[in-house]
Amino acid sequence: MSAGVPTRGRVSSLLPDFPWDTIAAVKQKAAAHPGGLVDLSVGTPVDPVDPLIQAALGSVAAVPGYPTTHGTPELRAAAVAALARRFGITGVDPAAVLPVIGTKELIAGLPRLLGIGADDLVVIPEIAYPTYEVGALLAGAKPWRADGLTQIGPQNPALIFVNSPSNPTGKVLPVEHLRKVVAFARERGAVVASDECYLGLVWEGEAVSILDPRVCDGDHTGLLAIHSLSKTSNLAGYRAGFVAGDPELVAELLEVRKHSGMMLPFPIQAAMTAALADDAHEAAQRERYRARRDTLRKALEQAGFRIDFSEAGLYLWATRGEACRVTLDWLADRGILAAPGDFYGPRSPEHVRIALTATDERIAEAAARLS
Ligand SMILES: Cc1ncc(COP(=O)(O)O)c(C=O)c1O
Repeated sequence: MSAGVPTRGRVSSLLPDFPWDTIAAVKQKAAAHPGGLVDLSVGTPVDPVDPLIQAALGSVAAVPGYPTTHGTPELRAAAVAALARRFGITGVDPAAVLPVIGTKELIAGLPRLLGIGADDLVVIPEIAYPTYEVGALLAGAKPWRADGLTQIGPQNPALIFVNSPSNPTGKVLPVEHLRKVVAFARERGAVVASDECYLGLVWEGEAVSILDPRVCDGDHTGLLAIHSLSKTSNLAGYRAGFVAGDPELVAELLEVRKHSGMMLPFPIQAAMTAALADDAHEAAQRERYRARRDTLRKALEQAGFRIDFSEAGLYLWATRGEACRVTLDWLADRGILAAPGDFYGPRSPEHVRIALTATDERIAEAAARLS
C-alpha cells in the first residue's frame, strides 16, 4: 500500500479482483502463435464508425458551451423514434430519456444513484456481466444471483437487473418470463433495470424490451431500459448510451446526475442523434456479425465444442465439457483467446465466451486453426 492512502475506506477493497488480469499469461501464449493472435476475448468493435456518424460528430466540433445533462431535444426524440421503429416500444416520453456516458457507467452507478444501500438486495442474473455485481457492491448493497423468482424467496429486493439477450450466454428471456419479473417487482416494490445492450443483435427467434407493451401493458412504472450504441453502431469508443422508461425514475436520475456533472459531450450527443436516426448502418453491422457467427459456430462445433444458448448477442457460449481454463489453454495453443466462464460468476465453470468482434480475416483464421 502506498503511503498516504488511508486503509479505511479503500473502495476497491469492496470489489472482486479485476478478472482480465488472470488471463494475461494465456494471452501471451496465444500471441506467440506464428499466425498472430486472434483475440475473441473482449467484445470490442473492430469495424469503423459509419461516415454519417463521424460527420455528425465533426459538424459540432466548434461548439464551445457546456452540454445539458438531459441531452438535446433532438437526441431524445431520436431515441424515442428508434425505440419505436426498431423494437416496437411505444409510449416513451421524450422527457423520460437520459443519455449516459456509456452504459457501463450507468450500471455501475445505478444502485447508488437510486439511493440503494446497506441491507438492500440487488438481484443480478446467475451468469452475469460483472458490472451488475460491482454496482451493488459500490452502493454497499447485497448482490443476489437469481434467474428464477423462486430463488429470491420472501425477500424484497430494491433493484432487479435483467439482461436479455444476455452477455455472456446469448440467452433470450421470453415475454412470459419478463412479464413475471415486472409483476413480481411491482408486488415487492423493486425497480427493474433491463440491460438491452444486445436487443438489436438477435439471430434466432425474438427478443423483447422490458418496455414492450406485451411485457408491461404500456405501464413503464418502476421500469428502466438501458440501451448502448457501443455494439450496434460501433460507438464503444465514443461512450454513448441512454436509459429510458419510468418518467419519475428518469427525472430522479437526471436530478442527481446534473449535480454530479455526468453529462455527455455535445459532439457525442450529435453523433448519437445521427446514429439513432439511421437504421441502414446498424443493419449492415448486424449482417457482418451474422456472417462471423456462422463461420465461428460451424468451426467450433466441428472441433467438438457444444454451443449453448447464443441465440442473440455478440458471443458464442461454448463448452468442451471440461474446466473453462483448460479450454482456454486449448484455444491459446491455436493462438485464439477467449474469456473463461468464471469471469461471469461461480455458476459457469465449464464454458468459455467467444466474441464475434474480430475482423473477417481474423475470424476466417480462427476457423482455419480450429479445423
Ligand atoms: C451486457 C452489457 N451491458 C453493458 C455493457 C456496457 O456497454 P457500454 O458501456 O459500452 O455502453 C456491455 C459491454 O460489453 C455489456 O456486455
